[in-house]
Amino acid sequence: MDAQARRYDISPYYEGWFQLAWSRDLKRGQLKKVRQFGTTFAMFRGDDGKVGVIDDICPHLGAHFSEGGCVRGNAVRCPYHHWSFGRDGQCVDIPYSKKIPVKAKVGGYAVEERYGMIFMYRSASGGPPKRPLPVIENFDPAQYCEPEHFDFSIRIHGQDIMENSVDGPHFWAVHGHSMPRFEFTEDAGSLRVNQQMSVDRFGTTIDFRLEFHLVEPGFHYVHFPKIPGTTAMVFSSIVPIDEEYTSHRMTFCIKKTPVPGWSNVVRRFLIWQMMKTYREDMRIWENKEYHAHPVLCDGDGSIMKLRRWFAGFLDPADGPKLARLPISSGLG
Ligand code: FES
Ligand SMILES: [Fe+2]
Repeated sequence: MDAQARRYDISPYYEGWFQLAWSRDLKRGQLKKVRQFGTTFAMFRGDDGKVGVIDDICPHLGAHFSEGGCVRGNAVRCPYHHWSFGRDGQCVDIPYSKKIPVKAKVGGYAVEERYGMIFMYRSASGGPPKRPLPVIENFDPAQYCEPEHFDFSIRIHGQDIMENSVDGPHFWAVHGHSMPRFEFTEDAGSLRVNQQMSVDRFGTTIDFRLEFHLVEPGFHYVHFPKIPGTTAMVFSSIVPIDEEYTSHRMTFCIKKTPVPGWSNVVRRFLIWQMMKTYREDMRIWENKEYHAHPVLCDGDGSIMKLRRWFAGFLDPADGPKLARLPISSGLG
């Protein structure tokens, strides 16, 4: 039994839109290996500027495209015998053959590039997206400063990271905030969690509000609407690397302000606060156990609601572990 199977009673993989990279990290004509979902993909940007993501193993004699392959036009050329494959995974050229075999094809995935991020739609069957990539509400990139990027690899299941946003008492116990007041709503397949709380810093009490919008099993964003003179947004991408580790990318955006330097002051404080709470969480996350049927009390909030929402994205094709979906404990 593998390590993750011992810790978690749910599938390590699920279906949906997942961020693979930031746009700035993939130049025109570049090919990169992506390690996610227990496998590797070849991600590339063609001469036309569009991104493709295809399976990494050549159907000819098994070379990995991402190990010495290159981009030619809008296709990936295998390093071994120079067969080329387009974004849909179809072989488009064999330099020494007049005929392309029907089976000369690999998986090609739906890709969207938005807000400076590259997303792919992942399902175990490789089928087309069941829904479009969600739009981030009230976000106009032109009104925001250049974003900052944070990239972590953590020994945890993505559901546990998502669960953190509805786990009210941990904000008090772990991060030293006041006990948050919560509003929790389910909205057309997504979850909204609004928190009102305060924290004592620098000899004063700072009130703040966090608006979490959980839109995909691998993506949510947090809006900080009540910062004096500005507002901030954090995009949070949670993508399984393998059965044990998860990639967590955060993109931090702060709105431009008319007062020179103010957005920079707010940015530095929020990033300091965010990294502090992240380090506090990480120690617990990487060492905790997963209880499919936790003992909960009436102050614990909406943990089981979150788990039921998450279970909706588990793909039966990922394996028999999905028969053991989380059930309600009677609370939350
Ligand atoms: S193994 Fe890829 S072209 Fe031969
Ligand atoms: Fe936390």
